[in-house]
Amino acid sequence: MDYLEIEGGHPLSGEVTISGAKNAALPIIAAALLSDKEVKLKNLPNVVDIRTLLKLLSMLGAKVDHNDTEATIDCSTITSTKAVYEIVAQMRASILVLGPLLSRFKHCSVSLPGGCAIGQRPIDLHIKAVETLEAEVTLNEGYVVAEAKNGLQANKIIFDKITVGGTENAVMAAAMANGVTEIVNAAKEPEVVQLCQMLDMGGAKIEGIGTSSLKIHGTNGVPLHYKEAIEVIPDRIEAGTYLCVGAITNSEITLLNVNTEHIQTSIEKLESMGCTFDYTDTTITIHPTKELKGVTIVTTEYPGFPTDMQAQFMAVATLAQEESLVEERLFENRFMHVSELNRLGADIWLKGNIAAIRPVKELHAAEVMATDLRASSALVIASLAATGTTKIRRIYHLDRGYDRLEEKLSKLGAKISRKND
Ligand code: EPZ
Repeated sequence: MDYLEIEGGHPLSGEVTISGAKNAALPIIAAALLSDKEVKLKNLPNVVDIRTLLKLLSMLGAKVDHNDTEATIDCSTITSTKAVYEIVAQMRASILVLGPLLSRFKHCSVSLPGGCAIGQRPIDLHIKAVETLEAEVTLNEGYVVAEAKNGLQANKIIFDKITVGGTENAVMAAAMANGVTEIVNAAKEPEVVQLCQMLDMGGAKIEGIGTSSLKIHGTNGVPLHYKEAIEVIPDRIEAGTYLCVGAITNSEITLLNVNTEHIQTSIEKLESMGCTFDYTDTTITIHPTKELKGVTIVTTEYPGFPTDMQAQFMAVATLAQEESLVEERLFENRFMHVSELNRLGADIWLKGNIAAIRPVKELHAAEVMATDLRASSALVIASLAATGTTKIRRIYHLDRGYDRLEEKLSKLGAKISRKND
């Protein structure tokens, strides 16, 4: 199995180009199902999750032409509306085909995703949203089976909890419904915004994009037509991860192709730790920081501090001069990296959903195990600052969401290599 070997302690420098956002690209690919014309996508990240969803669309009968950062998807040839367990079990985001399949084909069955390393992650809000649009939903042999014989009917969807994927499924379901659907307490993440802009360009007019209150003018069963190619927004989590790399290794690193507005909370938190930056709308340079201060982090929905950056900040905080506190509010089990960071010499104490990170003088190499995508990147960040050579196992988690990580880090001067045993 592949593992990463990282020799820590080397200062880094240079430029890194940020890839397209995985979490924006996934709903965009699902939204291709709402069209019977070719959809062109650009700036896709070259990661496993993207290939998994494209494979699912191919299995449904779509024609997919994909190379590296671009894809053309033709969903005029769909022959099945069943998202099988084999794919959904590999990637929970496959649930994003529920809304568009139901909206366009009036029926679908999607396997229940099953367990997840970071928490229970139920899909009840996705189901409730389509039921509100008058779909009949049953659970049958592990599948969510949904039907809307006369097409989905517009209604008011009120989310009692903010959900990114739930909002995305709801807007895609509403896109070809009959009438104007209102969504109350919608997620406002940049990835949701880009999806709404895409649907709007495709013919389902959307009011309130970027706010928590959306109005989607359904096309009454007419498939959408995305006239222009869709260029996926830069990955704000990948960008934040490289800023954390700069912070912990005391390096000067410039990020290209980034949307600095989307990473404001990460910038502000790093500033509060003593880091300094120069930035424009699309580039940012982090300067070397000799002494890091402690930080307090509470994860919450956008524009608050993202749960997807929690593990990476925890890695940086291990080497701060003062104690730091991290409270995880979105997922009940997103602290699997704590024991692995402690194996690298960190001193992190955990109670419930709160972690206290006590300062240590140095981190030292060990053999550690990646447990989920962002936990894995936290281990990479810590290893880059640790003395000695760390081995990180189970790096298939990293491959799901970080585009060419070793290549990008090597270019910055990191001693990192992928090995196999
Ligand atoms: C998205 O997951 C992201 N995934 C996650 O990124 C990210 O951590 C998360 O949003 C929060 O920002 C993608 O975009 C593909 P949610 P999602 O629905 O949509 C609860 C990464 O590392 N909930 O906003 O699944 C849920 O349990 C990944 O790239 C319900 O209770 O997250 C959680 O506590 C990991 N019922 C909260 O809502 C539901 O039906 C927010 O989850 C749905 C969600």
